[in-house]
Amino acid sequence: MKSLADQAIVWQDNHLVLLDQRKLPKDVQYIHCQNVNDVIHAIKNMVVRGAPAIGVTAAYGVVLAARVRYQESKSNWQQDIEQDLSELLCARPTAVNLRWAIEKMRQEIVKSGSEDPENTLLTVAKKIHHEDVQANKTLGDLGANLLSKGSAVLTHCNAGALATGGYGTALGVIRSAYAENKITAIYADETRPWFQGTRLTAWELLQDSIPVTLICDSAAASLMRQKKLAWVIVGADRVASNGDVANKIGTYSLAVMAREHGVNFMVAAPSSTIDMHMRSGDDIEIEERAHNEVTHVQNESISPEQVQVWNPVFDITPAEYVSALVTEKGVVKLPNRSKIEDLMKSK
Ligand code: MRU
Repeated sequence: MKSLADQAIVWQDNHLVLLDQRKLPKDVQYIHCQNVNDVIHAIKNMVVRGAPAIGVTAAYGVVLAARVRYQESKSNWQQDIEQDLSELLCARPTAVNLRWAIEKMRQEIVKSGSEDPENTLLTVAKKIHHEDVQANKTLGDLGANLLSKGSAVLTHCNAGALATGGYGTALGVIRSAYAENKITAIYADETRPWFQGTRLTAWELLQDSIPVTLICDSAAASLMRQKKLAWVIVGADRVASNGDVANKIGTYSLAVMAREHGVNFMVAAPSSTIDMHMRSGDDIEIEERAHNEVTHVQNESISPEQVQVWNPVFDITPAEYVSALVTEKGVVKLPNRSKIEDLMKSK
């Protein structure tokens, strides 16, 4: 049977149902999206988060947009829907999977004739969803092949089923390696300020009876020094064509610490996360979010009122820190531009 995390995005009774990730692990609640504005709101407000999950959600959002636009004008809906597509695209700036999925849907919109497009677009959205899960299973197994028996691993943020169509990227590798009995310990850091590690990764693994140890973000260096960590395994929001990686804030510091301590650093992501239009990480837009994500915990202020805040929610890890980039198309060790170009050309 599928776990709750594997059913975080479901098309049901002609609309989109999302597990509300803001409420986990305390409450398991669902948000029902009946139109594209509900979907945009859900992405902006982190009901759903994680690069591939945002892409899958947006694809279903396009189906809901097309339903309304086609009802409004059978002759002009393909032009009118562009407004919805650009609003969807702006919902979050860093994860490239959002643009990737919208482009896939747009290709289908352009091909559509005067027939009602809903069924065709829904088939494409379901395919994007299904293929993401398959990609994660494939890259999960490829990543697990890199681990030796007896490995302790650390993951950051949540790159699990909740952050994807299902199974997960970094957690996909960890799931596969755990099933192969290769893992001695899994550490999740809390991932300030939004606590994806505490609230989501710990919950998701325990739901599947996979033991996990939670650490403060600031304990990572000591963990590397004392606990013989073998790998740091993270996901990605966007990988530039030279191999630089945008991921949750704090990823860069883990990569620097990993190098210092001789720990391997793996980035696990589907090829839809690789953006060949970005020459380097410097070109990637880093989202900054509301100050109260830092000053407050669960709506409770923990800071002086007048304090200034800087809240970038992603950072760039230069390619030189990455031991292996693991995708469903294959593994790239010590990624660079030419290796990534070869990977993207492969089937
Ligand atoms: O702000 P979030 O929670 O959307 O950030 C998510 C991450 O940074 C994940 O590590 C990334 O999207 C990879 S998810 C498979």
